[in-house]
Amino acid sequence: MALQNGDQLSTEQLLHAQAHVWNHLFSFISSMSLKCALELGIPDIIHNHAKPITLSELVHALPIPAGKSHFVYRLMRILIHSEFFVRVADGDDDGEEHYWLTPASLLLLRNSPLSMTPFFQLMLDPVMMKPFDHISEWLGSEKHSSAFELVHGRSLFEYVGQEAGLNKLLNQATSSDSRLFTHVLLRDYKQVLEGITSLVDVGGGTGTTAEAIAEAFPDMKCFVLDLPHVVGGLKGTNNLTYIAGDMFEAIPSVDAVLFKWVMHDWDDESCLKMLKKSKEAIGGKDKTGGKVMIVDMVLDVNGRDNKEMETCFFFDIALMPYLTGRERTEKEWAKLFFDAGFTNYKITPAFGLRSLIEVYP
Ligand SMILES: C[S@@+](CC[C@H](N)C(=O)[O-])C[C@H]1O[C@@H](n2cnc3c(N)ncnc32)[C@H](O)[C@@H]1O
Repeated sequence: MALQNGDQLSTEQLLHAQAHVWNHLFSFISSMSLKCALELGIPDIIHNHAKPITLSELVHALPIPAGKSHFVYRLMRILIHSEFFVRVADGDDDGEEHYWLTPASLLLLRNSPLSMTPFFQLMLDPVMMKPFDHISEWLGSEKHSSAFELVHGRSLFEYVGQEAGLNKLLNQATSSDSRLFTHVLLRDYKQVLEGITSLVDVGGGTGTTAEAIAEAFPDMKCFVLDLPHVVGGLKGTNNLTYIAGDMFEAIPSVDAVLFKWVMHDWDDESCLKMLKKSKEAIGGKDKTGGKVMIVDMVLDVNGRDNKEMETCFFFDIALMPYLTGRERTEKEWAKLFFDAGFTNYKITPAFGLRSLIEVYP
């Protein structure tokens, strides 16, 4: 009873707790405000303006009535708070606020080569959002493999295989991520690929990562293995070949097997199958020095701040309604590697929240 009256909490604790609950209740406002700004094309408008833009110039460029400018002001205020835009002095002395871009909004320009907008569009698509409303229902049921299947009647990858719209969104999203990833890989970590004569990017989507690697290493024979609805009809180059197949069935014999953002989709049993198949692929009798390269999160990598940790947990829960996988700790990864018969591994926390894990037979 005392607790119900809040008597066990000081006034400060009580009000702090209330603000904490509000903050989490309204967390979705963060992504929805950003979604609205992207749909209106605000980052592109500011970028095309080529100098800081005033509120009235911004409203004028938007497909909205001038009378709604104070709503845009409020939208910009929260997005400045969340570091997607900044207020800057422009020297115009017109008394108006001027807005400019930040590194985060530069990544949300529609046509930037490193744009993250496709991933944003995928994750906030109603087909992808709906299962989140059903996680607790799915947890309480034995019937469905995922909340996605409960809501849409088929697994995510089945759905993607049958619905061209979501297939395109998923491929564009993963491809955009691969552009940023390969930008960093080839700029700062190219040495991890030195000496490799053949590589297969398993679950490599439409081949953005493998294409960049094949171009940077013209003597390396590269393959992209993915499902037929993803790679069907794609044309390779002289050192890049697309293989429409199933990674649980066969992985071609190569020096290096890459899994970027793939293992976290799957439960331990499936990861073990993929790792064993990979071990066979790199373990031909004349081969030495082969490795498996995994790009995924390692939850307990040192030096993460609270916000970064929260983002890792967001990713972990983001997988829950769709797939059987999860984000893993180093101990969980190591168990998989040793259970699959590998003897050693090396973690390089090279890609922001994700690491490169090199796994050796
Ligand atoms: C999260 S996406 C990652 C794509 C890419 N590696 C990247 O990071 O951009 C997972 C990929 O695994 C592919 N995939 C799922 N099941 C597969 C299977 N059984 N065999 C081959 N690829 C599969 C999907 O089609 C999808 O392209």
